[in-house]
Amino acid sequence: MTGGFTVAIDGPAAAGKGTVSKAVAAHFGFAHLDTGLLYRAVGAKMLAGTEAIEAAQTLVPEDLENDSLRTPALAQAASKVAVIAEVRAALLDFQRSFAARAGGAVLDGRDIGTVICPDAQVKLFVTASAEVRARRRFAELSGKGHTDSYEQVLEDVKARDARDMERVEAPLKPADDAAIIDTSDLSIDQAVAAAVAAVLAGLDASTGE
Ligand code: DC
Repeated sequence: MTGGFTVAIDGPAAAGKGTVSKAVAAHFGFAHLDTGLLYRAVGAKMLAGTEAIEAAQTLVPEDLENDSLRTPALAQAASKVAVIAEVRAALLDFQRSFAARAGGAVLDGRDIGTVICPDAQVKLFVTASAEVRARRRFAELSGKGHTDSYEQVLEDVKARDARDMERVEAPLKPADDAAIIDTSDLSIDQAVAAAVAAVLAGLDASTGE
C-alpha cells in the first residue's frame, strides 16, 4: 500500500528535522535518508582535495557511513558545495530512487518538497528561530566536547541560513503545499506528534484515492 509513499521534510539547520524524520520513519516503518549527509560527504572529499563536482559524481553509499561527517566544519563545507548546480544534479537520481522505494520513505533536507520530490504525499517544513536553533546546536556540540561559543554557533547558523536560502539553485524555502511545524516552543514529543499526525492524514488521503 505504501510503495512510493514519500514524506518530504525540509527546514533550516538545527530546527529538529533530523529528530522528527527519524521518529516518523520509525513510527511508520519507512526508510529514512538524511540528504544533508550527501552534501557533507561531498564537502569532506572537497576538503581532502577532490574537485566538488567530481566528488559528487563519484559518491558511493559507503561514503555516507562516516561518523565524522557531522562536524561544524563539514556543515559549512556542505553548504558551500550545495550551491553548485552540477553537484546538486549529480545527487538527484540517488535521492529520487530512494524516495520511490517500496514501503515508504522519509527524506529530510532543504529542497525535498520543492525540487527532489515535488509529488511527495506529505511535505513538512520544520523550522525554529535562529536563536533557539543555535542554543540547541550549542548544547549538542558542547556535549560532544566542541569548544565553540554560543555566539560562534549563532553566527554559523545564520551564515548557513543565508547561504542555503539565497542560493539560486534549489534555495531553502517551504513548498507551497508544505505544512509548517515551528518547533521554537515545542518539545521533541510535541514536534514528533505534529509530524506523525500530518503523515497519518497523508496516508488516509492516499488510501482514499
Ligand atoms: O542538513 P545538514 O545540516 O546536514 O545539511 C548540510 C548542508 O547541506 C546544508 O547547509 C545545505 C546542504 N543541503 C542541501 O543543500 N540540500 C539538502 N537537501 C540537504 C542539505
